[in-house]
Amino acid sequence: MASTLVTVAALAAIVIHLVTASPLMDTLLQVPDLSTYAEVYNLTGGIVEINPLFLKRYNYDEDKRNYTFLAPTNDAWAKIPDAIFDILMTQQAYPLTEALLRTHIIEAGLTASELVKVSESEGAGGISTSLQVSNTTEQYHNGVLTKTVQGYYIDSITSSNDTVQIDDQSAIVTANIVADNGLIHAIDQVIDPFLIYGGGPSNRTMAPTSETTDLTIGELLKSDSRLVNSSKILFENSPDTLRRLSQQTGSTQFFVAPRNEAYDLMPTILPIFHTLVAPYKSPFNTLMWQYGWLDSDGDTFAGLNFSSPITVASDITGLNITVTQEENAIFIMNAGLVTQVRTSNGYLWIVDRWLDPLYQAFGPIDRFGTPEWP
Ligand SMILES: *[C@@H]1O[C@H](CO)[C@@H](O)[C@H](O)[C@H]1NC(C)=O
Ligand SMILES: *[C@@H]1O[C@H](CO)[C@@H](O)[C@H](O)[C@H]1NC(C)=O
Ligand SMILES: *[C@@H]1O[C@H](CO)[C@@H](O)[C@H](O)[C@H]1NC(C)=O
Ligand SMILES: *[C@@H]1O[C@H](CO)[C@@H](O)[C@H](O)[C@H]1NC(C)=O
Ligand SMILES: *[C@@H]1O[C@H](CO)[C@@H](O)[C@H](O)[C@H]1NC(C)=O
Ligand SMILES: *[C@@H]1O[C@H](CO)[C@@H](O)[C@H](O)[C@H]1NC(C)=O
Ligand SMILES: *[C@@H]1O[C@H](CO)[C@@H](O)[C@H](O)[C@H]1NC(C)=O
Ligand SMILES: *[C@@H]1O[C@H](CO)[C@@H](O)[C@H](O)[C@H]1NC(C)=O
Repeated sequence: MASTLVTVAALAAIVIHLVTASPLMDTLLQVPDLSTYAEVYNLTGGIVEINPLFLKRYNYDEDKRNYTFLAPTNDAWAKIPDAIFDILMTQQAYPLTEALLRTHIIEAGLTASELVKVSESEGAGGISTSLQVSNTTEQYHNGVLTKTVQGYYIDSITSSNDTVQIDDQSAIVTANIVADNGLIHAIDQVIDPFLIYGGGPSNRTMAPTSETTDLTIGELLKSDSRLVNSSKILFENSPDTLRRLSQQTGSTQFFVAPRNEAYDLMPTILPIFHTLVAPYKSPFNTLMWQYGWLDSDGDTFAGLNFSSPITVASDITGLNITVTQEENAIFIMNAGLVTQVRTSNGYLWIVDRWLDPLYQAFGPIDRFGTPEWP
């Protein structure tokens, strides 16, 4: 493996000899090509005191743990449309951005070559066995899975030219930048964890069905046997959303809920269902739910004709919801529409995937031809 390390280092394009070892955050600030990443930390409270948690954890010497930062380069951040980037930098979107940033941090100092092989000895370099998973699980898994501090695993493989590729979305362009408390690898695209978390994009080909009910959206959610899992998660995370969806508001609401089977597509290695109902993840989960909610203008979607795509800004997050049609099938972002239910206070869309609010926002999702979904 030593030769792999040398090769990966040799491929590194950015000259980093100006960096003097210091904690991770301070080291980031010294690499010009990572200045946007440092700025993102600043704007989201990482370095300034709005949320000192990131700074305390990743920049203080009293925390004896080592970390690996997967740091998107300035070019990687520049791939994100400005309107989406600006939303990610708002206080409102913080739970989403925080989850995103935490998906780019690993609690152990791992070199690029250690990312693509499972640590052999238990506890080596502070690595617990659960940090990395061997290449034996079939589901959504091409290489070596490494756990991030968000709880999701990222999947790393070595390409034929020895570049380390992550989740088929991103590649390491500069490996092994040394900090006092860990390592930084510059990557060329921000990793979208929410897509894999939801089982990849829908492969639906059938047209959706339509139904009508006298119930409200909220009442339907609570009683429909197709939506048991969604209603359970929603009830735990955001009873207020459920309450509002049960009211006649005088306007046509619109809400998206994954059917039961959507949860079975989530990688089994991740205790996703468990974390979705965990109170400590609630601000993030609630934001994910509210992304698929429009308080009014639900009629926009009534006709089920999307021969031209329709884009509407989601009320709470401001992120766009885009609906497209491919032959008969209708997609809302990554999810396929199974059934439209016209209710007494709006439209409920039953879909086959957990919605990814950042679908394709960072760049192509299957860049290297080895996507993790079937
Ligand atoms: C981030 O904030 C720190 C502390 O205020 C400051 O020293 C640094 O220049 C800022 N960096 C960027 C990239 O905004
Ligand atoms: C939403 O879509 C509109 C129209 O395509 C676009 O002008 C706007 O920048 C988009 N906003 C976001 C946050 O993506
Ligand atoms: C952190 O990394 C340093 C340098 O590789 C090592 O000496 C130290 O033991 C590591 N600390 C932990 C807690 O693993
Ligand atoms: C993972 O398994 C696949 C298929 O069995 C194999 O081609 C690949 O080389 C393995 N990767 C690693 C890192 O062991
Ligand atoms: C290595 O291959 C990947 C495609 O797998 C490509 O994107 C990248 O530019 C190549 N890197 C080098 C240094 O040739
Ligand atoms: C989702 O719902 C189905 C049917 O009620 C159930 O069998 C399955 O275990 C649920 N999935 C999760 C992750 O709870
Ligand atoms: C869908 O809408 C387009 C115009 O946006 C129209 O040309 C087409 O006939 C409609 N298709 C159906 C099946 O109604
Ligand atoms: C979509 O993928 C699932 C899971 O691999 C598979 O069972 C199903 O047959 C596929 N559907 C289509 C229409 O290809």
